[in-house]
Amino acid sequence: LISKFFLHLFPKKFYKDTLKFSKTLYAGIISTALFVTLAVTGFLLMFYYSPETSMSYKSIIFLEEKVFSGAFIRAVHRMASHGILIFSALHLLRTVFTGSYASRGKNWKLGYIVFCLIIFEAYTGYLMPMDQLAYWATVTGMELMNTLPAGEIIKQILIPDDVGGRLTMLRFFTLHIVLIPSLLVMLISAHLYNIRRDGGLVKYSTTEKSDNNKRLINTSLIIGIAVIIVTSVLAYIIKAPLDIAADPASPPNPAWFLLWIQEVVSWKAFYFNFTVILMAAYYFLPNYRKNFSPDRSKWFSKEDMPVWITTAILTITIIVLTVIAVYFRGENWEFGLFLQQ
Ligand code: HEM
Repeated sequence: LISKFFLHLFPKKFYKDTLKFSKTLYAGIISTALFVTLAVTGFLLMFYYSPETSMSYKSIIFLEEKVFSGAFIRAVHRMASHGILIFSALHLLRTVFTGSYASRGKNWKLGYIVFCLIIFEAYTGYLMPMDQLAYWATVTGMELMNTLPAGEIIKQILIPDDVGGRLTMLRFFTLHIVLIPSLLVMLISAHLYNIRRDGGLVKYSTTEKSDNNKRLINTSLIIGIAVIIVTSVLAYIIKAPLDIAADPASPPNPAWFLLWIQEVVSWKAFYFNFTVILMAAYYFLPNYRKNFSPDRSKWFSKEDMPVWITTAILTITIIVLTVIAVYFRGENWEFGLFLQQ
């Protein structure tokens, strides 16, 4: 089955153009390599990590101080987790900006679910060390969730005995190492399978086909190895943070990828509902553009201008809101210039 899957991923005939950086930014392959990196390092971390409330922080200290390359593996895992959020978002944007989402509707929808699961996986992982960052990122995430109509119910399921409680730790751990990763493996495999089932990537300017899959395999391998090297070097330079043990009396500290939502909620909690509706609407993007066929199209095609302009505006808004939250918010979310955050 594995060799058949491999052959399916790397068929002899494929459009030469799809191997060009300018067509894909390689963001899909980079995300795949980061996912593998996360799975391997996560598996290794499991040997020392304990989700038990009184042990989780201590087990990370032990891992950092006593286990051979423990700190490094933890840093690689953390760096790859940031990387996959950034590169899968970039990959999503490239499929919008090149119009591929329209003629690869099924894979867009699968990819969109994968993206939401990756955010959820990053969120559940944040709690694991049970330090200040972990505790407050989870508490703020839950407060944001609470502003939604069904938020209270979801909160009850996820944190039955409050953040840091024994049941909560167990639920987050199970979600982080079993449930979400298994779903991700299945969905990402289906996503990759669909690329070939759809006849390869959307055709661009040329229809020239290669009849030798060596270049496809080599390019994927080189990108995969480069991702591992860059992530390791970055992880070696930038260590994974570990704050003091969780202190419920200290000020809140949301996860970076949720900061923009925190910013929206700080204006008016109700606005978060619009954000969720908008995000849900994006899942159905191919449905609104049934008559648009991007074959042989380029980046930012004229025919698809409303979609890519809207997406670009939303992306810039998210980036600006994140920058405001990082540099212009201090204690108790008061507005000002706080460069030392
Ligand atoms: C970890 C997450 C993901 C992985 C590992 C992944 C992997 C890949 C790879 C390797 C490709 C082929 C090369 C490329 O287009 O760069 C691809 C294509 C595609 N992906 Fe993803 N993807 C992920 C997430 C997403 C997301 C979030 C979306 C959008 C919601 C998405 C939508 C698509 C579409 C529509 C294609 C076909 C593109 C075309 O034909 O031009 N993927 N994916």
